[in-house]
This record gives sequence, C-alpha cells and structure tokens, in this order.
Amino acid sequence: MGAKFAITDGTLRIGSLSLELSADRPWDAWRTKEGGSLLINKEEQLLRDLDTFFANRHFKPHNVFELGIWDGGSTAFWFEYFEPTKLVAVDSLDRADDLSFSRYIRQRRASSRLKTYWNTDQADRAQIEEIVTREFDQPLDLIIDDASHELQATSASFDTLFPRLSSDGIYVIEDWRWEVYPWFREPDHPWADRAGLVKMVKRLVDAAATGEVKELMVSPRFVAAVHP
Ligand SMILES: C[S@@+](CC[C@H](N)C(=O)[O-])C[C@H]1O[C@@H](n2cnc3c(N)ncnc32)[C@H](O)[C@@H]1O
Repeated sequence: MGAKFAITDGTLRIGSLSLELSADRPWDAWRTKEGGSLLINKEEQLLRDLDTFFANRHFKPHNVFELGIWDGGSTAFWFEYFEPTKLVAVDSLDRADDLSFSRYIRQRRASSRLKTYWNTDQADRAQIEEIVTREFDQPLDLIIDDASHELQATSASFDTLFPRLSSDGIYVIEDWRWEVYPWFREPDHPWADRAGLVKMVKRLVDAAATGEVKELMVSPRFVAAVHP
C-alpha cells in the first residue's frame, strides 16, 4: 500500500498541506523560520514506520489527542492523515497558533474539529483530564505523545489518558529510547539529568503481561500500547 504522503527534499506533502521536516533544527526554529510552511519535528523514517504500523492495522481513529504541538506541523499532518472526527492537541509552550496553522484550519473549515491548547503541561493531570472531558463525549481512539520524553511527565499523561481510550484504541509514545545515545548524557546537554522513557516501556511490558495492555508494539522509533 502506498503512503498517504510524499516526502521530497525535506518537504512532506499530504492533501493540500506542505510541511517542512525539521527534526534537525534548533528547538526554537519556529521562532525564526522563514516562509510560511509549518515545521514538523519528525524524521522521515519515524513517519514511514508509523504509516506502516497504522496502515497494516487499517486503523481509522475518530477521536485523536496529541501531546506536543511545537509549530503545528504534526497536528495538521495527523488531521490530514486520519481525517478524524476531532483532533485536540496540547503543548506547554507559551505561544499561539502559527498563522499558517490558523489559515489551514480556516481553509479546512475545521475550527470545531481541530483544536490546540497552549500553556498546557502534559504532567498536569487535572488540566489534561479537564480538556479531554470538555472536548470529547466519546472515548479517545488514538493518543500520540511526542511532548517532553521525560519519565514523570510522560507517565502522568499515560496514567490520565490510557483509561480514556476505546477498546482497541492506541497510545503511541514517540522517540522513547533517546537515553541510550551517549550525547544526551554529556554534561552540557539540557537533557543530561532528565529521566528517560526506557523505564516506562518496561512498565508497559509488565502491563502487557497482566493484560492491562492488550498488545504492545515496541519498535526503535516508537512504542504503541493497545487498550483492552
Ligand atoms: C519534539 S517537539 C514535537 C512536536 C510535534 N509533535 C512535531 O512532531 O512537530 C516536542 C514538543 O513538546 C512540547 N513539550 C515539552 N514538554 C512538555 C510538557 N511537559 N507538556 C506539554 N508539552 C511539552 C515542547 O514544547 C515541544 O513543542
């Protein structure tokens, strides 16, 4: 099956969208970018691996929740990719939607189906719970966590959101094994003292053993836990 998107020379095209693959750019590249394209902070291989995973399962989620917006490229991408009933995304950054993101929402006439919440920490269980309750009257079918990649915050979101999934709903955590790369542990790296997600994935293996997680897919670039 062919991918729903095409990538050439660092540009991803899906539907009417054109996104700039920006995994190698500085964390604040959205502040200084030139041109109107939204940035997506993912490597091509991760997108291809996720596409293969979802396509093989013929997965068609209606209600989608995303942790980690950054410039909005991934949020618009998932909206185009799944064409869900609703997609809500949160991020702890103190910023507003990029102009191109707002334009995309207007063009798609999607203001009631595609929503962002800034200044929202994934570790704030009460706030996350409140947003999900306000925005969704049905269980979630897909949660994609590409936010802090830090153990405590990622666990807090998982503990809040995993029970909100439908049966066979999927919880994806991206880039979970960053701590095995030595450069993240160099003293001047901002993540040098950050607790990583390997421990979290081991916990998911335990949950798969007890049946709290129905299926677990652990691949180098992401992990996916299926709700019973
Ligand atoms: C690697 S970027 C990825 C964003 C987007 N999913 C993409 O692919 O372009 C991670 C984002 O997570 C956000 N983030 C980091 N820690 C967070 C937290 N504790 N709660 C919510 N968002 C957080 C950052 O502000 C950043 O925008």
